[in-house]
Amino acid sequence: MTEKNFYITTPIYYPSGKLHIGNATTTIACDVLARYHRLMGKDVFYLTGLDEHGQKIEAKAAETGLTPQEYVDGMAVGVKALWELLDISYDKFIRTTDDYHETVVAEVFEKLLEQGDIYLGEYSGWYSVSDEEYFTESQLAEVFRDEDGNVIGGVAPSGHQVELVSEESYFFKLSKYQKHLEAFFKAHPDFISPNSRMNEMLKNFIEPGLEDLAVSRTTHTWGVPIKSNPKHVVYVWIDALLNYATALGYGQHDTTKFEQFWTGQTEIKSWTDENGKVWEFNVASNVNHMVAKDILRFHSIYWPIILMALDIPLPKRLVAHGWFVMQDGKMSKSKGNVVYPEMLVERYGLDPLRYYLMRSLPVGSDGTFTPEDYVGRINYELANDLGNLLNRTVAMINKYFNGQVPSLSAGQTDFDADIEAVATQAIADYHKYMDLVDYPRALEAVWSLIARTNKYIDETAPWVLAKDEDQKGNLGSVMAHLAESLRVVAHLIAPFMMETAASIFSQLGLGEVSAMEDLTFGQFPENVTVVAKGTPIFPRLDMDEEIAYIKDQMAAGKPATEKEWVPEEVELTLNKPEIKFEDFDQTEIRVAEVIDCQKVEGSDKLLQFRLDAGDAEHRQILSGIANFYPNPEELIGLKVQIVANLKPRKMMKKYVSQGMILSAEHDGKLTLLTVDPSVPNGSVIG
Ligand code: ME8
Ligand code: MG
Repeated sequence: MTEKNFYITTPIYYPSGKLHIGNATTTIACDVLARYHRLMGKDVFYLTGLDEHGQKIEAKAAETGLTPQEYVDGMAVGVKALWELLDISYDKFIRTTDDYHETVVAEVFEKLLEQGDIYLGEYSGWYSVSDEEYFTESQLAEVFRDEDGNVIGGVAPSGHQVELVSEESYFFKLSKYQKHLEAFFKAHPDFISPNSRMNEMLKNFIEPGLEDLAVSRTTHTWGVPIKSNPKHVVYVWIDALLNYATALGYGQHDTTKFEQFWTGQTEIKSWTDENGKVWEFNVASNVNHMVAKDILRFHSIYWPIILMALDIPLPKRLVAHGWFVMQDGKMSKSKGNVVYPEMLVERYGLDPLRYYLMRSLPVGSDGTFTPEDYVGRINYELANDLGNLLNRTVAMINKYFNGQVPSLSAGQTDFDADIEAVATQAIADYHKYMDLVDYPRALEAVWSLIARTNKYIDETAPWVLAKDEDQKGNLGSVMAHLAESLRVVAHLIAPFMMETAASIFSQLGLGEVSAMEDLTFGQFPENVTVVAKGTPIFPRLDMDEEIAYIKDQMAAGKPATEKEWVPEEVELTLNKPEIKFEDFDQTEIRVAEVIDCQKVEGSDKLLQFRLDAGDAEHRQILSGIANFYPNPEELIGLKVQIVANLKPRKMMKKYVSQGMILSAEHDGKLTLLTVDPSVPNGSVIG
């Protein structure tokens, strides 16, 4: 890597609710990357922000009684406070309601319209307000039909309800760019990481064919109005994606940053197709986006096409990580399994949170957040492995050398070469994985050095060396190797855990954490004195107590009444086999009024009912509930539910029963299912 500049962006989140550890994950992941590249000597621009337009925000604001602007202003304050708590080193916080952004979005739209990339048409489709997305019937996870089989509703893949919306709409000619996009993917096979997701996009979305995209809405007004036709607002995704360019000054007066971080350094990626045609793409060498898999499609398809249409160099890299899920599935407030970062920082400090989320970052597939894992990693990896190593090292240097760190070449043990080799390998692996944004592996590399160093203490047994004055030099060398290993570790963890890196440096007497472009093992400075008394950098936790604490906090986030219920398929406990709707629909259930009711002679179970069920005449039904209703006359006047089209049957030789009265069975008892008296006799239930 030779580029001097580095541009990294997070998604701009919807401020439609409090941000949770999922959003914090991507933001911290970008922060780590920004800090890493700064420490590697680059000029970094780190962008984050909020996606504040759209129907969902408009609805949310209405719910709270605020104007949309008031609502997002309040949310923006909260989000910035969260990023401050998490020590996010962003260079700019963009809000899509910022004037400069809105102006450019409106202008870009007109430009695309004039160019013919956008045209006016009519849209009719299934729309999910929550997803802000249209779906074709075949994309729906479930469809609801009326009696004639017409689709009358459905559920989006996200689980949200969709509604049929028909509107005049502008369309983006994605189809025109189909070949270009395919060629771009071929020309730049490292565009998306992890690489497997590239093929997923190509096979599932691009190769099957791109349909033109509806890029305006008339169903709501909270958005950027289209200049030449203000009853439309720009589709929230077009508005949102453009943030990556407008934040740097694209389309504005001062484009210095845009030139520095975007257009200033480019490279050509090319591919020759089967007809021998050479496709060339201008790629912006410093542009990096990070998202999770849920919005990869928008970033890998729509975004490059918008950029192609605007003749802007394409992004160098799009990192898409997986999701953090909970043991009982997706995070959801009503399940009471949402984890908010504030609670974890308050109780355990910032570094454990940053460490945990990055060490467990779901790179390819999804990862599970568990309280057990959280507390476990703090105890074992942070307090035991790393914290102890620092404590022992500082204590021994104080005890054996009055705090003065000896020289690495004071002596030699059989284990020095190996610890050096492991450190060198760890540094190399670390850089390799940082580059791939595979933080779990990068941190694993660091922890392999920590483990090796702990083992080194056991192998060299300094307490034995200390008893022999002839071994003083070797003892010194051991101390120096320990200190040096910790110095290397502190450098490597600095992008992840700033406070911990600084504490290690300060306890070792090294001053501030500096850049690490040339980090190698064996550079520990001369004449350094460690602190007289080290302080533990991580608390040791009571596992059971803390696991219970986190679980309680998660459950406390559960609302008393569930405002939003996302229907999901759950395990059902059935007494009878599943039936089709059509089968159920054969049953005619009606409301019927009890006109008369008496015991059936010769039976102690049966009651004889005369009912007004809306038929021309009263019908008779026998029901086996006499045991539960000793005074049948009391039932007269009640409205009950009957199965009206059950084949009549003869009972007790002389009686005909025309139907069945519904009752509920519980603990061996039967209770009639009554209906509110205001419901007319004969009403059909279904
Ligand atoms: O999609 N695990 O905003 P959004 C990991 N406004 N990451 C998660 C996560 C989880 N469980 N949940 C959320 C939007 N994220 C648009 C983006 S960009 C031009 C517009 C993170 O608030 C992850 O980065 O729904 C995911 O892609 C993002 O939050 C979605 O945020
Ligand atoms: Mg989302």
